[in-house]
Amino acid sequence: MIGSGLEAGSEKHEPETHPQQRKDEKPLSSTTTAAAPTTASGLGTDPHWWRQAAVYQIYPRSFADADGNGIGDLRGITERVDYLQDLGVDAVWLSPFYPSALADGGYDVDDYRDVDPKIGTLEDFDAMIAALHGAGIRLIVDIVPNHTSDRHEWFVEALRSPKGSAARDRYIFRDGAGEAGELPPSDWTSIFGGPAWTRITEPDGTPGQWFLHSFAKEQPDLNWHNREVHEDFLQTLRFWSDRGVDGFRVDVAHGLSKDLPANLPSQAELDATPKDGAHPIWDRDEVHEIYREWRGVFNEYDPPKIGVAEAWVDSARRPKYASAEGLGQAFNFDLLEAGFDAAQFRETVTFNLELAAKSGSSSTWVLSNHDVVRHATRYGLPAKASGEEKAGTNWLLTAGATPELQAESGLRKARAASLFELALPGSAYLYQGEELGLHEVAEIPDADRQDPTFFRSPGLSVGRDGCRVPLPWSSAGQSFGFGEAEAHLPQPEWFSRYSVQAQDAAQDSTLNLYRRALRLRRELQGEDTLEWIELPGAGDSTTEVLAFRRPGGWICVTNFGEQAVPLPAGEVLVSSQPLNSEVLPGETTVWLREH
Ligand code: NOJ
Repeated sequence: MIGSGLEAGSEKHEPETHPQQRKDEKPLSSTTTAAAPTTASGLGTDPHWWRQAAVYQIYPRSFADADGNGIGDLRGITERVDYLQDLGVDAVWLSPFYPSALADGGYDVDDYRDVDPKIGTLEDFDAMIAALHGAGIRLIVDIVPNHTSDRHEWFVEALRSPKGSAARDRYIFRDGAGEAGELPPSDWTSIFGGPAWTRITEPDGTPGQWFLHSFAKEQPDLNWHNREVHEDFLQTLRFWSDRGVDGFRVDVAHGLSKDLPANLPSQAELDATPKDGAHPIWDRDEVHEIYREWRGVFNEYDPPKIGVAEAWVDSARRPKYASAEGLGQAFNFDLLEAGFDAAQFRETVTFNLELAAKSGSSSTWVLSNHDVVRHATRYGLPAKASGEEKAGTNWLLTAGATPELQAESGLRKARAASLFELALPGSAYLYQGEELGLHEVAEIPDADRQDPTFFRSPGLSVGRDGCRVPLPWSSAGQSFGFGEAEAHLPQPEWFSRYSVQAQDAAQDSTLNLYRRALRLRRELQGEDTLEWIELPGAGDSTTEVLAFRRPGGWICVTNFGEQAVPLPAGEVLVSSQPLNSEVLPGETTVWLREH
């Protein structure tokens, strides 16, 4: 604890406008998800609701555009709550909706306690959360504490204030190297490419100090040694908690605590420094002091708020982020990074269930999100050249068409992988559009691209716009039903076939597969454990087939190979491909109730 006087749960916060229930001390480490009573709002009262939740990520500017300005908005979400309810998700994770110049898709926040006027108002937010809660869907909001935007009032004040001022101390300013400070303080590169330091102009008009930005130059890193920074984020957490949000997804959770020596190491030295808790930037041990403070705020509410860390750390160091004294959960991207391969999937699952048990949390599972190539496309591209790896690990999309894409095969594997994921114990984080089997949009003209990674790493990366193209709701018409104006990223013609309208009534559509699976997942949910099983009669194909049993007597079987194998005995509950005979086709998952 960094001298805050705020011990976990020690101070009770009285919400002003949006009364929350008082907490009654309940441990966070239970492994069961017992049916909890339902409140008038449609939400259960279970403090462990998140442990096996299906959480649907909404990238708000690309979900649904109600006001017709080409950008998705909060009213668009409210109008589609019935879609989400029908889909059967337990919670929504909402990517940033705060005022922003969109230098990084909203992860450049101007004001943490407001809504971007381009996408709504605080009243729209209240209406949206009321509609979600009324439909029994919880809401997790994204919070971005590593950096603000360069339009945030603090940064504007820092630019107006002199070197050494309190305003500059909220960020990481350094004098430049070279005789007149004309060189950056170090040769560090930002995660998005290009230099990690940008020089400012001092209030008197002279070239001045440099500030650190781990991402785009419009995203200055905050100085978490500054107490005011802590207090302000505690206020933000209470602000949204009082408005009824159920949790927070914490952006770059492993980057907040930095300890930069006077003599900065070079990028090469930084890269060679182990990330064991003492690295100057990433995953420092003291970052957990911040989350202990946050936990104090979370536990002021009943049920306590949940946090989920976006922490790209060595997996052995992940449990600390997910502990009950910390955020409560952490993303595990291992399945997303694995190839479509039985051995890799099995190892990943076993390892992560053990890891989650260490923290007392549940595991999370992710196949797609707004930062990566959609999994239908990854699985449809040839494996990386290195040979060993399986389809699914190819992240290198080139601009324009992707002639090597096997769209059908990719989707087939994606459906099998998704059904596998939804059968696992733990929380499944789904990304908008994956329920439609959407592919990455490769054919975005350079002039329309928005992602800073495209601009900051010329020729190397086309960036992440291809998974952020607005959703197709209808098969035809203006922006495929996304809104009444042209969508802010161009949608390809083939979106028509993937639209909600096209899939709604088609029994075997990907949308209906997700709906069936999510319903069943709720019905079947028991203890968050699994037992791997060997299938009799699978013969030589066992290396390609994975099967596990969940409590309650149902099994999930995935055939990762191309050849069909005998279908195990049992009542078919759902399968990722139509089953016409007594075989389980290649690249197919089935859930079966055992006789
Ligand atoms: C992780 C977010 O998921 C990504 O979209 C963003 O660009 C970076 N953090 C920086 O905020």
